[in-house]
Parts: sequence; structure tokens; C-alpha cells
Amino acid sequence: MKNRIGIVGGGQLGRMMAFEAHKMGFRLIVLDPTPRSPAGQVADEQIVANYSDQKALQELATKSDVITYEIELENSDIFDGLVKTGSIIHPSIKTFKLINDKYLQKEFFQKAKIPVADFMAVENKEDILKATKKFGYPILLKTRLFAYDGRGNALIKKASDIEKQMNSLQGKGLYVEKYIPFIKELAVMVARNTKGEIATYQVVETIHKNNILHVVKAPAAINSQISLKARNLAKNVMQHLKGAGVFGIEMFLTKSRKVLVNEIAPRVHNSGHYTIEACVTNQFAQHIRAISGLPLGKTDMLVGAAVMINILGERAGSAEVSGIEKALGLPQTYVHIYGKKDTKMERKMGHITAVDKSLEKAYKKAKLARKLISI
Ligand SMILES: Nc1ncnc2c1ncn2[C@@H]1O[C@H](COP(=O)(O)OP(=O)(O)OP(=O)(O)O)[C@@H](O)[C@H]1O
Ligand SMILES: [Mg+2]
Repeated sequence: MKNRIGIVGGGQLGRMMAFEAHKMGFRLIVLDPTPRSPAGQVADEQIVANYSDQKALQELATKSDVITYEIELENSDIFDGLVKTGSIIHPSIKTFKLINDKYLQKEFFQKAKIPVADFMAVENKEDILKATKKFGYPILLKTRLFAYDGRGNALIKKASDIEKQMNSLQGKGLYVEKYIPFIKELAVMVARNTKGEIATYQVVETIHKNNILHVVKAPAAINSQISLKARNLAKNVMQHLKGAGVFGIEMFLTKSRKVLVNEIAPRVHNSGHYTIEACVTNQFAQHIRAISGLPLGKTDMLVGAAVMINILGERAGSAEVSGIEKALGLPQTYVHIYGKKDTKMERKMGHITAVDKSLEKAYKKAKLARKLISI
């Protein structure tokens, strides 16, 4: 078996992938500019270099049978060299480039007749005003590239917000989206392996604050019709997309029970972390299976309910964790810490998953555990 996996990006997603890959006997090589990155700490080797360093990427390629990635990039051309020299990369670079640019992604959905919020490319203030005439207020101004954890979003509630919000996003390649007054945000993790098999996970509810994910409830408290609709929508998205791996499909549920796609992540996803304790095959193991030509594992939940709460930085400075011993005293409550040396406001430092018979019970424990931990 070809058993060497290269990961571009050394964050928590790569770290959790590495844990699972090792269980199945894979070797892991990580490329990341930060020495002892979260994934680098647990991989067999880390190449310390920038993602755009072509020499380092080629070194990663010679040390890997298959390459995957766990990052968003300002420049999605960095993989072109690897493609030219014949490296196997999953998900495919074509898909990566499509998803990496949020505007191209939206156009893709439109062509595939996948329901999304109305959107429009904008270059200047006049364009944005035009969009507000068409969509009404509020609208969301978004950057096309390198936008994650809500950093590339700015809400425009009235005409006088436009300039300020354009400046806050530094006028980078922008587009606008109609604001969807959703009643819930949902997410579905989907996997496709190199043989084309597709598996979807249970629909979860995601709760964001300041555009950043705070809480995931699995399964989402929605009726079976909506759940089926969301899972089918996720499958439909996958049928239009190329490439193997795990993908996160973020969705909005509207008052009139419509399910719209917000965006796709071409990777394991924060909304799937609960799968580690709650599912037959967790998303990280599934990703490794998917990209290595292995059969997909079952996605069923093993427990009644699971709630995940992110541990986000509350200040800037060096990170020190306390309170784990108390949190772990709660039954079926699990704490994950990513090994980041420094913390920042709202930086993802770790997460908690609590499982139980019901969402209410799991949520109560997860919240309590979060209160006990400081970082
Ligand atoms: N059109 C919209 N209408 C209403 N809310 C929206 C819309 N677009 C985004 N949001 C809110 O902002 C959050 C973050 O937006 P989006 O997913 O586009 O950004 P992101 O930076 O890629 O986030 P992440 O990295 O957390 O997935 C969404 O989860 C949702 O809560
Ligand atoms: Mg998002």
C-alpha cells in the first residue's frame, strides 16, 4: 500500500487528520511555515516553509504518495507546479481553485442550479448601490479570496455604511450577497473516495457569532423532510464537483423551509469535529480513506446527540490552558487542545465535544465544560 500522505497546512485540521492517518499505518509529512505547527507536532515530519515555496512543495511531493491540503490561500496557483510534475492531489486542484474564489463558487452553484443567495460582482461604490437597489438592505459585502472565519465579510445596513465597509475589507476583489434572514444554519459533511463512492453525514446545526463558528449541534433539531432535503442537496453539490476527499457544505434554512447553500469547504470542517466521538467513522479518518483509494466508512452516529463548542482565544499573547481536569470530570465530555503556542482574539485554540442521549443534555455539559476552561 502506498502509505505516505503530504499535507499542505499544519493547523488543527491537519493535526486531527494525522492522528487518524497514523491509526491506519500512514506516514504524514506536513508543510507549514510555523515550526512545530499543530499538525507538525504529531506528524512524522514537518517541512518548515511557506505554502508558496515551490522547492518545498516539490520536496513534499517526493516524500508523499498523495497530497492533500487544509488551508485557504490568497493565491491558488501555488499547486500548478505540483500538477505539472504529476503529483496526485486530492481534492483536485480544479475544484480547489473553484472553491477558493467565493465568487467563482457562487457562479458554479448558479450554473448547477443549486439554490444560493442572490449575489453580484462589484467593483466600486456605484455597483454596491446598484446591488442594494436590486436586493434591498441589508447586504453582505464579501471578499472573493482568502476569507475564512468571517474575516472577509462586512454587513451593509444602509447607504452610509458602504464606504466604511469597503475600507474594512481593503477593497480586495469583492462581491455582494443578499442577506438571508435564516432561521437556522445547517451543515452537511460529505465524502467521496477516488472510486466515486459518496457518503453524507447527519445534518448538523451550526451557530455563529461575529461570523465565526461557536457551536455545533448534532443532529440538527429539524424534521426528517428538511434533513433529507439538506443531505440530498449536499449529494447534488458533490455530483457537480470533481475530486476526492471530505467536503463541508454550509447551508441556510429559511422561514419558508427552503435550504440554500452558503458555501463549500473542500476539506474536513469545524462542523464535523463532533464526528470524532459521535460517529462510526470520523471525518478525519474518512478523509484519509477517501484520498487513498480505500472504501468509505459508515457515517452513522453512535450516540443520541453531540454538541461541540469551540475554544476561541479571548486575548492576544502566549497560550496557557487551565481547567481541563475539571472539564474532563464531566461524563462523556472531551477536550481537544490544538497545541498553538500563541493565542489571539477569536483564534481557534481547541474545542469541546459532549455527547449524551439528547441535545439538551449534551449542550448543558458542553457549556459547563467551556466555562471551566480558560486559555
Ligand atoms: N448571505 C448571507 N446571509 C446571512 N448571513 C450570512 C450570509 N453569508 C454569510 N452569513 C453569515 O456569516 C457567516 C460566515 O460567512 P461565510 O461562511 O461566507 O464566511 P467564512 O469566512 O467562509 O466563514 P467560515 O470560515 O467560518 O466558514 C455564515 O456562517 C453566516 O452566519
Ligand atoms: Mg463559512
